[in-house]
Amino acid sequence: MTVIRGATTIAEDSPEEIKKAVKELIDQTVSRNSLHKDEILSIVFSSTSDIHSYYPAKAAREAGYSSSPLFSSQEPDIDGGLPLCIRIMLFVEKNITPHHVYLRGARTLRKDIASKINIAIDGPAGSGKSTMAKALAKSMNILYLDTGAMYRACALKALKENADIRDETAIIDCLRDLALEIKYEDGTQHTFLDGEDVSELIRKPEVSMAASTVSQYPAVRLKMVEKQREIADKMSCVLDGRDIGTFVLPEADFKFFLTADPKVRAQRRYDELTAKGYPVDKRALEEEIVKRDEQDSSRAFAPLKQAEDAVLIDTSNLTPDEVLGEMKRTIQEKI
Ligand code: DC
Repeated sequence: MTVIRGATTIAEDSPEEIKKAVKELIDQTVSRNSLHKDEILSIVFSSTSDIHSYYPAKAAREAGYSSSPLFSSQEPDIDGGLPLCIRIMLFVEKNITPHHVYLRGARTLRKDIASKINIAIDGPAGSGKSTMAKALAKSMNILYLDTGAMYRACALKALKENADIRDETAIIDCLRDLALEIKYEDGTQHTFLDGEDVSELIRKPEVSMAASTVSQYPAVRLKMVEKQREIADKMSCVLDGRDIGTFVLPEADFKFFLTADPKVRAQRRYDELTAKGYPVDKRALEEEIVKRDEQDSSRAFAPLKQAEDAVLIDTSNLTPDEVLGEMKRTIQEKI
């Protein structure tokens, strides 16, 4: 036998809301666990004490789950408990690995298994965002979305077309029919510009500064933010950038802000670029990082800023494993 848990919330205590939420919860539990209705032995419901207008068990019966015993009970009124919440415990005959289902407001109860989880990691260049976002996404088996790559692709397009990076109108014009695609191959993000895989080209140092400049323009940002929200809305992912926790996804489930000493950050970029064979001058790189920080933090629209509810981690003296450990601890504590 297998026991599957689930929960959902309703917007108000009305029979219609209860019927809709109960049907959605059981339907999803059944489909995510590849069950047939006949395999359900029994369903036990509990609802918070602010729900009076309908029996969840009756709603389930009306939704077509009438072939097994159903039972509803009411939970005690606990201070600080999630309001207007309906929980289920579904018993099935066969032995399977259960996929528990937490919907609507109840996702906050079990963020680890909720249908979708969004994690925002912001911070300046070289703070370790992309290394950590990749590692965290891998360890949680969810997608990693590198939003910087999108601004880099915009900059590359402008550079290719010899558009004046400092001229906002020229850039908007140049990006009018931008064909930017984000694809995932073997779990790795690939950025396509006009059908070409530019994932490597956009890492060139001259693209970094141009990306910082074109990303100041509100029209460019809004275009990219729309794509980012679209992806985050559909699936669980870790997004890294400058404005994810403050602007792109202010409702993200978890937010981190990484920082590090500018010298450490320049050294990391130096190691990264020299490993790829790019000739770089360390002093120039340090200057570029400081200039980029200044430009990214001082722009008027959606600047680089720590969200009030973000967890700050200074990575200067930490290994990637240590940072990952701290992030995972933070996530575990809340779920
Ligand atoms: O993270 P990165 O170095 O790849 O980003 C390149 C530039 O793009 C960065 O200097 C500022 C900009 N950017 C941004 O403005 N907002 C984001 N969410 C990500 C990057």
